[in-house]
Formats: sequence, structure tokens, C-alpha cells
Amino acid sequence: MVAVTLERVSKKYRRGGDILARRLGEGSGSHEGQPGTGEFITALADVSLEVRDGETLSIIGPSGSGKSTLLRVVAGLEQPDTGRVLYNGKDMADIPPKERGIGMVFQNYALYPHMESRMNLGFFFLVRKRAQEIPERVRVTAEIMGLGFEQLLSRRPPELSGGQQQRVAIARCICRDPQLFLLDEPLSNLDAKLRSSTRVEIKRLLRRFGITTLYVTHDLTEALALGDRIAVLNEGKLEQVGPYSELVERPVNVFVATFVNTPPMNILPAHYNRAAHEAVIGAVHLALPPGSYTDAPSEILVGIRAQDVLPRGAPGVLPLAVEVVEPLIAERAQLVHGRLNGHPFTAKLSAEWQVMPGQLIWLDVPPERIYVFDARTQRLLA
Ligand SMILES: Nc1ncnc2c1ncn2[C@@H]1O[C@H](COP(=O)(O)OP(=O)(O)OP(=O)(O)O)[C@@H](O)[C@H]1O
Ligand SMILES: [Mg+2]
Repeated sequence: MVAVTLERVSKKYRRGGDILARRLGEGSGSHEGQPGTGEFITALADVSLEVRDGETLSIIGPSGSGKSTLLRVVAGLEQPDTGRVLYNGKDMADIPPKERGIGMVFQNYALYPHMESRMNLGFFFLVRKRAQEIPERVRVTAEIMGLGFEQLLSRRPPELSGGQQQRVAIARCICRDPQLFLLDEPLSNLDAKLRSSTRVEIKRLLRRFGITTLYVTHDLTEALALGDRIAVLNEGKLEQVGPYSELVERPVNVFVATFVNTPPMNILPAHYNRAAHEAVIGAVHLALPPGSYTDAPSEILVGIRAQDVLPRGAPGVLPLAVEVVEPLIAERAQLVHGRLNGHPFTAKLSAEWQVMPGQLIWLDVPPERIYVFDARTQRLLA
């Protein structure tokens, strides 16, 4: 098994490096090869990260935040411009991808379309003149993959459903006995139902092997179901890495706070009244948690999670002008979207409350559930 370290890894792409990048370049009116700003796209900016031996690290971030680039750099399919990638402390700069003992699964599976599943699993050994190992490898892998996998072995990819192709792609990885699993949005092609069952299956396999895994997704549910820890990328920067509970309880900045919460944490611009230790949001005066914001600036952002507000019968602190009510049947709850002092705000309330669009409701929030960020730097204030 292997621990992976990224040491201050940066990676830029030249605009026009591929079709997508060229399109982006056109959109912003810049021209390929022209000197000056906008010639390069920063895919990874000074990323340092430790993936522990045997852990599954989920990597989440918006589209274009550098998730796939990070995987490709770890795999050795791309070289970082600066910084190093180490496996068990050993610099991998000179080790080609095929000698790194990795198994990769991509969104589009990349199975060989003309080969039966059996051969998709075995091809790796065939080209390495180890064909004699194939039957036993395939047998063991099918056993690991569990019920129903045998039947897939004699079919070619066009004869398999998306979910089945995904299982074959994963089996092809397992078959090679990898020391490191790199999965890039492996479930994004599947429909919701198949996605959740395949997610459970992947989790079972990862548990069973304890193979070090990097799992890229922009689905938060998936990230937290599979990852022992979660790394949040934004515009090539690693914003925070930790167990989900830590990201939720102590997000380092506004980006993480909104990204790891569903619905996203509400963020309200406010003034900080130092004397009263309260946030002033229009006519609303909100008592802040006891704590020393001795260095708090006068312009702050108040963060409140949708599920942390409590409705009050009598007028209370936060007036929410209700616009849209969205029932969450399974949770016996509802999302109440509206405006608070002109700013969008969402509250998650128990279904027993009768809430109608057009209504003004009053919400209370326990001071200890309030987050305070510096409005300029967007960072959480301790
Ligand atoms: N070969 C390339 N040439 C030029 N630019 C590239 C290339 N590959 C990626 N990029 C750019 O680098 C940035 C990061 O891309 P990357 O594919 O790592 O994002 P991602 O987080 O995986 O996004 P998605 O969720 O959409 O898959 C993007 O701005 C992208 O356009
Ligand atoms: Mg990607």
C-alpha cells in the first residue's frame, strides 16, 4: 500500500491547449499565443496534500477547479510545473504512469469496446506476456465483484448497461492489484438509482481492500459517503481538507461553508457592532456567540445554516419574507426560500409548520450556531 504526498504542486495550461480551453479563450476575447494576461489557465495552485496509506480521500470542487488535473498529476499523466509528487516518500518524477501500480476509472469508463469483459480485464496481462495469469485473475476478481458479475464476462461493452460497464471498469482496476486507486467521477454517467447502488458497491470494495484511493466527484453525497476525509478545491487552490464533520463545523472560509452544506450556508452582509458584540443586518440586531473577535473588521459576513434556525410564533430576530416552499418528503421537512433584509435566505423547517409564499415568518438562531467571516478576506473569524 502507499501514502501519497503532493508538495506545493502547481500546474498551468496554455490557453488553446485543447478544444475546451480554446473555447474559453474565445469567450474571453484573448488570443492564443499572445503575450500578456490570460495566456495561461491555472489548474493547480500550490497544492500540498497528504493522502494516508489506506484512506479514501474524496476530492470535491466546482467544474474547472482542477480535480481531474490533480488526479492526472498523481498518476503521472501530467508533470507538475513546480512541486513534487511522492509515493511513500519517494519522488515519482521519473516513474512513468504504468510503473506506478495505479488503477484508474474515469467517467467514460474507457473500456475497449470490441473486447468482451473477460478480455477487458485480461488485456493488461496479455500485453505484458503474462497471459497465463488471466484465468485465475479473472476468477478471483469475479468473486470479489460478487453476485451477477460472472454473467457480464462474455459480453462486450455495447451489450452492457452504464452501470454494468462501470462495474467492469472497476473490476479491470482490481484485477491488476493496484496499490493506488484513482477514480474520476466514476458514477456521473449513471442514473440516480444506479448511482446510489453502485456507490454502495464501491464503498464495500474499498473497505474490503483498504487500497489508498482518491475519489473525484462534484456530488457532495458521494464524497461524504465514500471519503474518510474530503478535500475541497476551488480555482486550483486546496481550500481545506478534513473529515466532513470538520468541514461543516469549522469551514475555513465562505467558499467551503457554502460548498459543503446542502442547502448552501446562508451568507448575510453585516456590520459588526463591537460595543454590543452584535451583527447589524439592516434593522436586525443579532447577538453573536461569545468569543473574541478582537480583530474583527467592521464589515463582516454572517453565516447561518438552513437547519440551524428555529421558527418562532411571536416576532423574533430574523424576519424572512417567504417566496418559495419546497417540501422534503423523506425528511418530513421543508425548505423555505425567501428574503431576509433583501438578501436571499433559505430555512429548513419541520414539515409541521404551515408556511405559505407571501408570508413573513420569524426565525431564531442560537448564537453558538452563527458563523462570522471577514467580509474582505472571506475567512472565518475565530
Ligand atoms: N489539456 C488542457 N489544456 C488546457 N487547459 C486545460 C487542459 N485540461 C484542463 N484544462 C483547464 O484547467 C482547469 C482545470 O481543469 P480540470 O479538468 O482539472 O477541472 P475539473 O475540476 O476536473 O472540472 P470538471 O468537474 O468539469 O471535470 C480548467 O480551467 C480547464 O479548462
Ligand atoms: Mg474533471
